[in-house]
Amino acid sequence: MGFDHTSVMPAEILAYQKLKPGDICVDGTLGGAGHARSTLKAILPGGRLIGIDQDPDAISHARAVLHPFKQHIILAHDNFSNLPAILDQHAIDRVNAIVLDLGFSLNQITRAQRGFSFNRDEPLDMRMDTTQNMTADIIVNTFSQEDLIDLFFSFGEEKFSRRIAKAIVRERSTHPFKTTRQLTEIIVDAIPGSQAAGSKIHPATRIFQALRIAVNRELDHLTRFMEQVPDLLVKGGRVCIISFHSLEDRIVKQRLKTFEAGCTCPKTLPQCVCHKKPVMRSLVKKPVTPTPAEVAANPMARSARLRVAERL
Ligand SMILES: C[S@@+](CC[C@H](N)C(=O)[O-])C[C@H]1O[C@@H](n2cnc3c(N)ncnc32)[C@H](O)[C@@H]1O
Repeated sequence: MGFDHTSVMPAEILAYQKLKPGDICVDGTLGGAGHARSTLKAILPGGRLIGIDQDPDAISHARAVLHPFKQHIILAHDNFSNLPAILDQHAIDRVNAIVLDLGFSLNQITRAQRGFSFNRDEPLDMRMDTTQNMTADIIVNTFSQEDLIDLFFSFGEEKFSRRIAKAIVRERSTHPFKTTRQLTEIIVDAIPGSQAAGSKIHPATRIFQALRIAVNRELDHLTRFMEQVPDLLVKGGRVCIISFHSLEDRIVKQRLKTFEAGCTCPKTLPQCVCHKKPVMRSLVKKPVTPTPAEVAANPMARSARLRVAERL
């Protein structure tokens, strides 16, 4: 199978990882293995890369394209939220760098027939891990109207959630949802024409985002990963995370803030009683964004936000 890939902010990721030969690194979102390949070149001789992806196709692809480096890589079809267990299995205590490049790969959206895009007519699936059970059509065909409204509000920040959920429930009573086109048409019809016309983004963007986040439990996995980060890095080790929407970026930003602050005592206490010390330091005040040249060459990069932090 062919595999499309374009790495986002490759130069920035490489610079911020601050790698040297012999380092042990993790790429938690292998995708097309672009970041993994440049990481490998920087840590050889002597280094090792642990590459993870929840999509079995990404792992097969990485196994093929990273073949020349096969002595130096460990590949895992798994979720990056299981990183502590993966490192344990390979008797690795801590690593020098971890990269997460969140969201879906170009391959998943353009070739995999997984239903991630409202511009194509595909099965309503949206699983990154094709071995899991939950799919987008299960959500759309079985969730209650209230649960759909909540999901669209919280994961899509869609102001027409109520109207769209109502239209979905009405449609599915006679025509259960099977394809992305069927869902897109119902969403477009449910949004007032003037609102849809005035918007810069396609009217189905937010609903597709919400469904993808729910199917893959994206925010749960990111939250679980973030809680574990300081225990996985050596002193001076770095974590680089590229996110593509504000819900992800908020989780990363807030958790890094807690690690930087150390103390978790309520503000109402006159002095610290928890005695927790800062464990990480953010290396960028604001998230780093791709250059205009990169966005022009790869429009999928336009909403990317990179945060980087170092273990103290
Ligand atoms: C944007 S792509 C990564 C592209 C890659 N950095 C490159 O250079 O080609 C995101 C990849 O992360 C994977 N992914 C997303 N969330 C994941 C998770 N929680 N655990 C493991 N893999 C995940 C997706 O399956 C997808 O292949």
